[in-house]
Amino acid sequence: MSGDPLKVAIAGLGTVGAGVVDILQKQAGLLAARAGRPIELVAVSARRRDASRPVDVSSYRWFDDAAEMAVADGIDVVVELIGGSEGIARKTAMAALGAGRHLVTANKALLAIHGSEIAATAEKTDLAVAYEAAVAGGIPVIKGLREGLSANNIVAIEGILNGTCNYILTQMRLTGRDFADVLADAQALGYAEADPSFDVDGIDAAHKLTVLASAAFGCPVDFDSVHVEGIRNITALDIEFAAELGYRIKLLGIARLVDGAIERRVHPCMIPLDHPLAMVEDAFNAVTVLGDAVDKVTFIGRGAGAGPTASAVVADLVDVARGRTTPTFTLPQAELRNLPVVPMDRHRGEYYVRLTVLDQPGVIAHIGAAMRDEAVSISRLSQHGRGTAANRNVSVVFTTHETDEAAMNRVLARIEAHPAVVAKPSVIRIEAI
Ligand SMILES: NC(=O)c1ccc[n+]([C@@H]2O[C@H](COP(=O)([O-])OP(=O)(O)OC[C@H]3O[C@@H](n4cnc5c(N)ncnc54)[C@H](OP(=O)(O)O)[C@@H]3O)[C@@H](O)[C@H]2O)c1
Repeated sequence: MSGDPLKVAIAGLGTVGAGVVDILQKQAGLLAARAGRPIELVAVSARRRDASRPVDVSSYRWFDDAAEMAVADGIDVVVELIGGSEGIARKTAMAALGAGRHLVTANKALLAIHGSEIAATAEKTDLAVAYEAAVAGGIPVIKGLREGLSANNIVAIEGILNGTCNYILTQMRLTGRDFADVLADAQALGYAEADPSFDVDGIDAAHKLTVLASAAFGCPVDFDSVHVEGIRNITALDIEFAAELGYRIKLLGIARLVDGAIERRVHPCMIPLDHPLAMVEDAFNAVTVLGDAVDKVTFIGRGAGAGPTASAVVADLVDVARGRTTPTFTLPQAELRNLPVVPMDRHRGEYYVRLTVLDQPGVIAHIGAAMRDEAVSISRLSQHGRGTAANRNVSVVFTTHETDEAAMNRVLARIEAHPAVVAKPSVIRIEAI
């Protein structure tokens, strides 16, 4: 082994930061051999200097201010593990790049919102921005896209990008319980935050999809163009009907090219049981990539937690130490593709619809007429149960053949207007990569 050590500063010593310190301490010899030079942690910063931590950081230079650390002498690379798209995380990242330090981060929110500014700043002085941990935690999907699949035009990407949602949907399926119940349990077990909205409303997955799509398609990050829906409206009944129809419900992040335009969307999907993501359960993440040469490749693994996330961060440090770096979103900024965006109402796909209706003649005929008028063709239709004097409500479930979302929305508006339709229809898009 030869070469000067790569001098590392870590901002944030929480779950991921402590995990990174642990690997750097325990695997120093192995990492030095793989990197061709020692990777030496020299400085750390967190909010509370006196906090008890699972790793000993007393031998490193301490900074109360992470942005000050980022510009201090004797640092080659700053690892930002604080989190959040604004405030000190952004300030630290920009200060690091401004001072000529490479940046490693696990912060998907920061990259999804400010990725263009970060990439442009890094490019000016030929610095690396590495973010394997920001998408699907320990799964080397960015590296897979950037290196292993670099011969391909990527056609589509579909991913289970949020472990909390996947855990909740898995538990709903296994126990037959409703969303709110399972969420409360997940919070008690530490799988979901006290404020779960970032996860269950799909925002975290949308941040990751934004970054993933840019790495896959070589386009600028554009969080605002991602269509986002979460899992709050998924019911135990939908999960039961999905199983009857041969589907699983998953929250997917999907990016695909459609006639030279890009679709980026996060929403619950019904996927067939033989879909590569159907068997990915609990808190696991997975990403299926469709490349024009390779066909389908699926990456599966742990998307969160100290060890898995730190594994990805440290792999980025090894790359930086070796000088194995590429432009942030795989292409130089000037060559990124500004692809037109497919608006959601032009999305084409199949749909599952569950209606709660009064058990009375004429309802099915009304559904049929609305669909006929919009040229939406039914794939399957069934009524579940029989109305009784005490409860006249029954479920009517139908799936469609491929149609466009605008036509589907017109059909739903007409169906909903019928007096026998007593609740808002449950609509889930059906996907097959
Ligand atoms: N947790 C995961 O499994 C996971 C997976 C993938 C990606 N990520 C991403 O990794 C990043 C870190 O996540 P985490 O789970 O490790 O977060 P965390 O456990 O909440 O830790 C955050 C750390 O940032 C420090 N911090 C907060 N404000 C600060 C400030 N003003 N100056 C300096 N340090 C400050 C905290 O200091 P104190 O310790 O002193 O409070 C803490 O050490 C986030 O971007 C997250 O999205 C996390």
